[in-house]
Amino acid sequence: MKNINPIGLFDSGIGGTSIWKEVHALLPNENTIYLADSKNAPYGFKSKEEIIELSCKNTEFLLNKNCKVIIVACNTATTNAIKELRAKYDIPFIGIEPAIKPAALHSKTQSIGILATKGTLSSELFHKSVAKHPEVEIIEQIGYGLVQLIENGQIDTPEIMELLERYLKPMVEKNIDYLVLGCSHYPYLIPKIKKIIPNHIKIIDSGEAVAKQTRRILKEKEILNESEGNSTQLFYTNSDAGVLKTILAKQETVLYEDF
Ligand code: SIN
Repeated sequence: MKNINPIGLFDSGIGGTSIWKEVHALLPNENTIYLADSKNAPYGFKSKEEIIELSCKNTEFLLNKNCKVIIVACNTATTNAIKELRAKYDIPFIGIEPAIKPAALHSKTQSIGILATKGTLSSELFHKSVAKHPEVEIIEQIGYGLVQLIENGQIDTPEIMELLERYLKPMVEKNIDYLVLGCSHYPYLIPKIKKIIPNHIKIIDSGEAVAKQTRRILKEKEILNESEGNSTQLFYTNSDAGVLKTILAKQETVLYEDF
């Protein structure tokens, strides 16, 4: 199989690069185009209608670049808009949902924590996955302020530590043994989170699962790119390209475009 069209990914900003890294590691032959809608970040406090509108705009940008599949690398956009995207566009979409199921199935304390945006935690999709696990207590926390700080490149700051302590300590007191990261920006906070929570609490994010699901879909649709050789990794942003470059810490091409 040799379908060289790119895999498209979009996020409200730079956080979805945590997903892109997993996808690129698993599928290095694939060309990818990543769209960071940082100008409109965060999505987490927008209405469902606004999130759908932005997600459609992002999808059309990627369709214009001939993407063969689209990864919605943003929990807020997935939980609020993926149903509408699938109904409107004739292309496979892969979404990213908080990993409640594996955490609930493996929890021994019957208590798990989830850190996510307001938009994700108030979505119908999220409520449905919670309702499937009445056996566990789910401690929900909105990560107020975290996405903005990450978007501004302020990861190594006392403000981030203060917010994380405020959000995570009550979960630790409630004896959680799994912490689900329900926002694609948050994996960049894992080293900081580990300084706050005890070692036995497992942190789950969805990057690897999304990468595997993408490979499954590409195989099933027979659109994998198995050709050897250099693949192209393009990143578009409509805001400061500097933060995106820092977070990638490599030589991928970052382009500014006012979409
Ligand atoms: C946001 O834009 O508020 C965060 C994106 C996400 O939920 O992954």
